[in-house]
Amino acid sequence: GATIPIAPEDAQPERQQPSTLEDCRRCELWQHATQAVGGEGPRRAKIMLVGEQPGDQEDLAGHPFVGPAGNLLDKVCEAAGVDRRTLYVTNAVKHFKWEPRGKRRLHKTPAQREIEACEYWLEKELAQVRPQVIVALGTTALKAVLGTSHVTLKEHMGHALRHEGRWVVTVYHPSYVLRVPDDTARKAAFAAMVEGMKMAKGLLD
Ligand code: URA
Repeated sequence: GATIPIAPEDAQPERQQPSTLEDCRRCELWQHATQAVGGEGPRRAKIMLVGEQPGDQEDLAGHPFVGPAGNLLDKVCEAAGVDRRTLYVTNAVKHFKWEPRGKRRLHKTPAQREIEACEYWLEKELAQVRPQVIVALGTTALKAVLGTSHVTLKEHMGHALRHEGRWVVTVYHPSYVLRVPDDTARKAAFAAMVEGMKMAKGLLD
């Protein structure tokens, strides 16, 4: 799918007025990231998947969900009978937040102020794609989509929520599923993600 260009003329006269995502300085995360990673997918996708932030591989590649979490996402889509190429896939936060751990870059959860700063870009994506259904992958995505920090995964898991004229389906984040140590519990978490994707598909007109 084609990347949606975020047009300079769309820039709003508020805060630091970044003209393009690449130039965004709305928070500090750009300083230690390789590049900003915007969403990708059909311009009028009916379903938008929102993750947390690019991971190590996404930061280097410049594309969302291309690393281990992306591989799991591919498997979830396949099991749910959803073609990933029909989805618009993005993240709540567009820069990779990390801390050094030896030679590795360890993911850090974005702060609420960073989620809020980046809602500017998510709003643009929503305005352009106008999906019928948003699938929020994990808590950070859910906070960004609902525009509030007072929200838990638990209260929204397993059912669809109507928000600003569209459906929001909440599922686990794929990286969480990958980290579940117990085999049976991990399979159950995977199955729950598949159910969420099926629910999203079932909500389409
Ligand atoms: N995790 C996310 O939330 N998004 C990505 O793009 C990759 C990993």
